[in-house]
Amino acid sequence: NCLSAVSEIECVPFMCAQFRMEMKQCIVKLMVQPSRGLIDEKFIVLVQKVPPGFQLTVHALHKCEDGHSWEAFGHYTSNATGTVNVSEDPSLGGTYSGVEQMGLLWSLRPVPGRKPGLRLRKMNVQTPMEVTISVYQGHQTEGFMDQVPLASVVVERWYMAPGIRRILITEDGLTATLFLPPGPGPFPGLLDLWGGEGKLLEYCAALLASYGIASLGLDYLTPKITMETGKLMDKQYFETAYRLLEQHPQVLSSRIAMLGLSLGASMTLKMAVYSQVIKVRLDDVYVCTIYRNMGKRRTGKNNEMINRDLLLPIPTDPTLKVDVGRLKCPLLLVLGDDDQNWPAQESALDMKQIMEQAGNSHLLTVLSYPNAGHLIEPPYTPHFRASSFNSVQSTETVMTLWGGEMVAHSRAQEDAWRKMLDFLRENLFSGSNPGAAS
Ligand SMILES: *[C@@H]1O[C@H](CO)[C@@H](O)[C@H](O)[C@H]1NC(C)=O
Ligand SMILES: *[C@@H]1O[C@H](CO)[C@@H](O)[C@H](O)[C@H]1NC(C)=O
Repeated sequence: NCLSAVSEIECVPFMCAQFRMEMKQCIVKLMVQPSRGLIDEKFIVLVQKVPPGFQLTVHALHKCEDGHSWEAFGHYTSNATGTVNVSEDPSLGGTYSGVEQMGLLWSLRPVPGRKPGLRLRKMNVQTPMEVTISVYQGHQTEGFMDQVPLASVVVERWYMAPGIRRILITEDGLTATLFLPPGPGPFPGLLDLWGGEGKLLEYCAALLASYGIASLGLDYLTPKITMETGKLMDKQYFETAYRLLEQHPQVLSSRIAMLGLSLGASMTLKMAVYSQVIKVRLDDVYVCTIYRNMGKRRTGKNNEMINRDLLLPIPTDPTLKVDVGRLKCPLLLVLGDDDQNWPAQESALDMKQIMEQAGNSHLLTVLSYPNAGHLIEPPYTPHFRASSFNSVQSTETVMTLWGGEMVAHSRAQEDAWRKMLDFLRENLFSGSNPGAAS
């Protein structure tokens, strides 16, 4: 992956006049390395051959699949050798500040004038997220589209590494996509359940396949059968998906994990505890909820919907909860302590207590992040404190508050993802007794 993108553009004459430099000395060089990589990979942005002490803006522009434009930018001053290294030099202003190697991605936000509530999500993982990195003269905050940059390069960010096979699954009534790593295998497997908005979101499964795990992304809320007949999916549907992985010739049947995000997390827990079929080696859950609606919905100061109180107080009646005391596989819970959508913190604490009483708390790892919100996504995904949400249960779109603060949330995403990969590696790839946990 030693790819890099380089742009050398003759700088505009007035700039050279301003610095009384000769034209041939005045060529701005912009390099981004690697220019093609996975979404969770870091890149180096280097600006060279500008005058010493030169003020410039490094700008990132992304046009998403819905056609909306997103931007992020940082203000820099070149050093005595006329260089800015975004990995090492502080941004003095812009959409992020300080030394932030990946601020150009995690602080992406809709360009001014867009409707509120947008959220960035990759629907087609077969194409990369393309980001144009440019250098502009001066410390600017707006009007980038109307100007000619001093240099510009396009970088590609992929969820799917080269050689991954993407297989659409429609058999046995499933609406799913299987991502197989390159090579003959067999690989450890993973069942990926996304959140309460339905649809088949593939980016997590694609990215995990890039780390050597055969990953099945499953649509359990809006699969074809439900759309055609109105029938909701039951336990059997999840078990069918699990069996498909288990019986796949390229999957190690004793090494299967489940990953759930948001609503998917509660499904994951239920299956792991109660299913006779699903014998997961480990369970990996992003944000959890295990309770029926109890409390009240609140509204935030900008009229956003706050759902966390729906599930509070945590019920004491054990029949209202998944009995995590029966769990036999390792469980990693990842949560943000400013989750405004679900009482993730309170749920995790309750689960910990249940598991301590049952004597299986050695299986539990909780990663709780201060000032992080509900939507803990792969690294460098922009943070959305609130966004329009279209739940499967209702027809209206509502502005929903997820919580979290941009910098803390971005750090949490980076840390949680690395730790989740370590957890998966440790439990799926190593150890000499694959059947032990089931
Ligand atoms: C300017 O920054 C570049 C890249 O970080 C570094 O190699 C160079 O030594 C720096 N020059 C000075 C004078 O600090
Ligand atoms: C820019 O910073 C990165 C990260 O510290 C470093 O690896 C790279 O060598 C630097 N590039 C230059 C030209 O100084």
